[in-house]
Amino acid sequence: MRIDIVTLLPQLLESPFADSILKRAISKGLVEVHLHDLRQYGQGKHRKLDDYQFGGGAGLVMMAEPIFECIENLQKERQYDEIIYMTPDGDLFDQPTANHLSLQKNLLILCGHYKGIDQRVRDVLITKEISIGNYVLSGGELGAAVVSDAIIRLIPGVLNDESSALTDSFQDDLLAPPVYTRPANFRGHQVPPVLTSGNFKAIDDWRYEQALQRTQARRPSLLKNSDD
Ligand code: ADE
Repeated sequence: MRIDIVTLLPQLLESPFADSILKRAISKGLVEVHLHDLRQYGQGKHRKLDDYQFGGGAGLVMMAEPIFECIENLQKERQYDEIIYMTPDGDLFDQPTANHLSLQKNLLILCGHYKGIDQRVRDVLITKEISIGNYVLSGGELGAAVVSDAIIRLIPGVLNDESSALTDSFQDDLLAPPVYTRPANFRGHQVPPVLTSGNFKAIDDWRYEQALQRTQARRPSLLKNSDD
């Protein structure tokens, strides 16, 4: 898979890909991540990228032309399965979206800033608009990092333990059950005895029951046929 990220602040996106699982995925050749500095497509001596909005109103709007030039340049090299715009008014990002995106070959993610981007970019170029939550960030970069992380960890071979992405919270519309490691008794707090019983059927049943209870308490809307 290849992810191209178009941004005003490429340096903000360098560290998420320079450590841990994402770094390993890149060095194993399972994913390529390319950052593109939109400033290079800015207009005039000052490489201008934004302008006042027609009709008046506070805040600058990112101009269509530099974004079109940047994305069209990238499209000359390859066809993108999705051209994603990170925006607080996009579809809320969730695990099914991450699963869908992890199966694609070429993704392009555009990070917005200021008051947003000229609507014509959204109308003509963008195929998917994603929000990572109902709050406003200073720009789309942190959202792009979140989306990329959620996608990349699903690519086969990225996680050491192949089964562990499948047992994540949300993968079966249930939150994950509690987990424990050694020691079995920590300052008088005992691990639930079933986990040390060696009875794997009982352990599976306990985990399922705990996942169900946690989902009911914390995300009842995930449960099918829920009244929520
Ligand atoms: N840009 C600004 N706020 C955002 C959000 N909540 N999600 C995605 N991109 C954003």
